[in-house]
Amino acid sequence: MSFTFKEELKKAVAETEAVVYSYLPEEEGHQKTIFQAMNYSVKAGGKRLRPLLMRETFRMLGGEGTDVEPFMAAIEMIHTSSLIHDDLPCMDNDELRRGKPTTWKMFGYDMAVLAGDALMIYAFETAAKALKQGADPARVGRAMGILAEKTGIYGMIGGQTVDVELTGRPVPAEKLDFIYRLKTGALLEASMMIGAVLAGAAEDEIRKVESIASNVGLAFQIQDDILDVTGTAEELGKPVLSDEKNSKTTYVTIEGLEKAREDVKRISGQALEELRELPGEKEFLVQLIEMLMSRKN
Ligand code: IPE
Ligand code: IPE
Ligand code: MG
Ligand code: MG
Ligand code: MG
Repeated sequence: MSFTFKEELKKAVAETEAVVYSYLPEEEGHQKTIFQAMNYSVKAGGKRLRPLLMRETFRMLGGEGTDVEPFMAAIEMIHTSSLIHDDLPCMDNDELRRGKPTTWKMFGYDMAVLAGDALMIYAFETAAKALKQGADPARVGRAMGILAEKTGIYGMIGGQTVDVELTGRPVPAEKLDFIYRLKTGALLEASMMIGAVLAGAAEDEIRKVESIASNVGLAFQIQDDILDVTGTAEELGKPVLSDEKNSKTTYVTIEGLEKAREDVKRISGQALEELRELPGEKEFLVQLIEMLMSRKN
């Protein structure tokens, strides 16, 4: 990773974070506890990868201005809601997230369930603010549809369903591919597709962006499985060996570490190849995807 990209990335993450924070609710009123739990979970940290990918795809395909900002906040809210629920005792039962106690450890199971629900629906309330800011209503409508579809039963929640249902059981490789492309890939697809839609990209470009993001997502989840075995809780900000604790079949348990590492490179390479077929300035996105291939957190 070049020195300049590292600096650029740091700046881009800080800008992205400022956008996300600007849409979080004030912690006041009778329901203050839910605002505190939401804000705690979003502000705990994280790479901000999804809103960053959205912004960079938007810019690459000619998007200008702030139309994308409410959607950047929305996708990070949805992602965070998925993490809050994923960590619950009835799911992965983890106690550390983004270097802090998980939402259920801090606020109790009841508030963690509500905070996950709250962030998921507040995301749509937030995305709709793009209209008030003067964004094109047809593009906003399409983007909201993508956000819902990729979050829901045909996206992240569908993937989590099969992931949870097959916990402790053998999983055939093609089913694991389905799980990963949905539980993790779908929100990355939403991120990049919404960037493309709001920029006014052509239909074939939106399809290509979906395919790129699907592969970035698959590689991302395989790397997540690798880090669960090879990383440290300090670096990751979440527990290691969570998958083993839950008797999960993962890419690493099926293919082994070495093949998993090779496949992260191969699948990311496919994404990069397709990315190069798109118009626009794409150096930042190329470097970002390359960085993800060897990420340690
Ligand atoms: C964690 O996502 C959940 C997966 C889909 C693997 P990230 O690794 O992007 O988590 P944060 O946002 O940086 O905390
Ligand atoms: C993440 O899968 C899927 C989500 C949609 C949250 P994991 O269960 O492997 O994610 P981590 O390792 O807890 O972040
Ligand atoms: Mg999980
Ligand atoms: Mg988990
Ligand atoms: Mg994991």
